[in-house]
Amino acid sequence: MTDLTIDLGFIKLKNPVIAASGTFGYGLEFAPFFDLSKLGGFVVKGLYFSPRPGNPPPRLVETPSGLINAIGLPGVGVRRFADEILPQLRKIKTAIIVNVCGENEEEYASVVEFLDKEEGISAYELNISCPNVEKDGLCPALDSEATFSVVSLVKKTSSRPVITKLSPNVTDIVEIALSAQEAGADALSLVNTLLAIAVDVEERKPVLGNIFGGLSGPAIKPISLRMVYQVVRRVKIPVIGMGGISSGRDALEYLITGAKAVEIGTANFIDPEASIKIIEELKDYCEENGFERIEDVIGTIKR
Ligand SMILES: Cc1cc2nc3c(=O)[nH]c(=O)nc-3n(C[C@H](O)[C@H](O)[C@H](O)COP(=O)(O)O)c2cc1C
Repeated sequence: MTDLTIDLGFIKLKNPVIAASGTFGYGLEFAPFFDLSKLGGFVVKGLYFSPRPGNPPPRLVETPSGLINAIGLPGVGVRRFADEILPQLRKIKTAIIVNVCGENEEEYASVVEFLDKEEGISAYELNISCPNVEKDGLCPALDSEATFSVVSLVKKTSSRPVITKLSPNVTDIVEIALSAQEAGADALSLVNTLLAIAVDVEERKPVLGNIFGGLSGPAIKPISLRMVYQVVRRVKIPVIGMGGISSGRDALEYLITGAKAVEIGTANFIDPEASIKIIEELKDYCEENGFERIEDVIGTIKR
């Protein structure tokens, strides 16, 4: 029997596979497809304090091996989340991670302060990196001082572990990662989507209502993997890798590189059971390659 458990230090996961924020609804939408408690965990859609409608359509466009989204973080807000959704999530025996957003630092802190009173959340993932809310949203992950400031404030407010989600839209991801670590982040997750646009040549105008969107899917995997490679060598806290993972082998590339866990995003839209298949493929790899524990695979990259 392969041991797929992962110890992130602040939380133990059944396995390293977590469904990524924004691609898995509030989790419940995927309950008809499989038993959610089989996942290592899932991250719910980004939450601001108040409900939000998101961006005007069109909000999605497919590109070769990728997807550009400009959803713009629509959401139910913390009150409805706590009253209507969280009670149902509490029954699911897996790590429930809440993706936290804010238009300013204070909003990040007030989301966390509000949710801290509620049972059943394993950790917060700070979304300081969404590229398609440019008009209203902060993107502190583009700047090491802004990252330090918001992570410190949230850490002071939160009684729960804080995972900081980084943006790939920077020149030096290591600098931002080190700032988040110094501010007290318990883990890092990387990456969010890459800033992108698409053009409609008949209309000669941008395809997306918001003009800018975030590119995700297999097209970004070599870039996000490179960033994980750079960051894991420099930080002491665990790194959760994501970007274009759609198979067990993709997930293994991240784990071998040194990520302690992975998040699955766009692949959920192609196959709602993608995460479950990836868990099975990880088990098969361990069995075929003589690993009793998945933890023994992590960081085994030869140089
Ligand atoms: C439609 C869509 C919505 C997303 N919404 C969020 C979100 O609310 N919060 C967040 O931190 N990331 C969000 N993301 C980013 C994903 O969680 C993930 O970081 C990114 O898509 C890269 O992984 P992938 O290539 O496996 O999709 C979203 C991505 C997509 C495609």
